[in-house]
Amino acid sequence: MSKRPYVLLSAAMSVDGCIDDRMPDRLILSDAADLDRVDAARAGVDAILVGATTVRRDDPRLLVRSAERVAERVASGRPPQPLRVVLSGSGELDPSARLFTTGDGSRVVYTSRPERVVVPADVVGTVDPARVLADLRGRGVERLMVEGGTSVHTLFLAAGLVDEIQLVVAPFFVGDPDAPRFVGAGALPPAMRLAEARPMGDHVLLRYLLGENRGRS
Ligand SMILES: NC(=O)c1ccc[n+]([C@@H]2O[C@H](COP(=O)([O-])OP(=O)(O)OC[C@H]3O[C@@H](n4cnc5c(N)ncnc54)[C@H](OP(=O)(O)O)[C@@H]3O)[C@@H](O)[C@H]2O)c1
Repeated sequence: MSKRPYVLLSAAMSVDGCIDDRMPDRLILSDAADLDRVDAARAGVDAILVGATTVRRDDPRLLVRSAERVAERVASGRPPQPLRVVLSGSGELDPSARLFTTGDGSRVVYTSRPERVVVPADVVGTVDPARVLADLRGRGVERLMVEGGTSVHTLFLAAGLVDEIQLVVAPFFVGDPDAPRFVGAGALPPAMRLAEARPMGDHVLLRYLLGENRGRS
């Protein structure tokens, strides 16, 4: 058994590298075809992880939407939905967030302040990314999808714990120097291999392989 899950980092950004803007509503970066691609990618993993700010700002459900894909998961002996995972230093998460109120399946919160967590989830007292991955592997997670935001991308990339990036570039600029970027500052991977560049209308999917995974296809 490998020591940690395969880690797929998935994000959509503008041409100028923004993954959101600073307007009240969430910035739409994916079109219908890309949302369906992300749904297929979610259906292929055992867990999906996001940072607490993404939960607070975007209120995602992090569910596989397609009934066919859910049925395929069940037919192959997997849970209907991936495990939903949140990383939160503060432990301050709202139990009415959609991630905690919609869909079947378990949730895990990794936090420095377990005593503060009041959401329905398993609570684990670490925010160290390698420990998070080891704990997830112990829960049977072989493939993990990391879905944002900036700090979580940076944390896992700088720790050398990402095997693959699926990055969609949307055909517009945000043009705001203070808008959230794909990654922040850090000791980011020095080299990656471009495994695929897939045009999807005016969007493009870039698939990069990292680390020991660079030799794969
Ligand atoms: N376009 C996309 O694909 C996409 C996808 C997802 C999110 N986003 C965007 O990303 C933005 C949010 O990014 P963000 O960087 O502000 O937030 P984030 O990465 O979603 O979450 C940050 C929070 O995660 C916890 N965390 C992260 N690293 C930690 C560490 N090393 N130790 C302890 N806790 C840690 C902290 O939680 P506490 O605050 O609880 O301490 C921290 O405040 C939003 O604008 C969202 O819309 C875009």
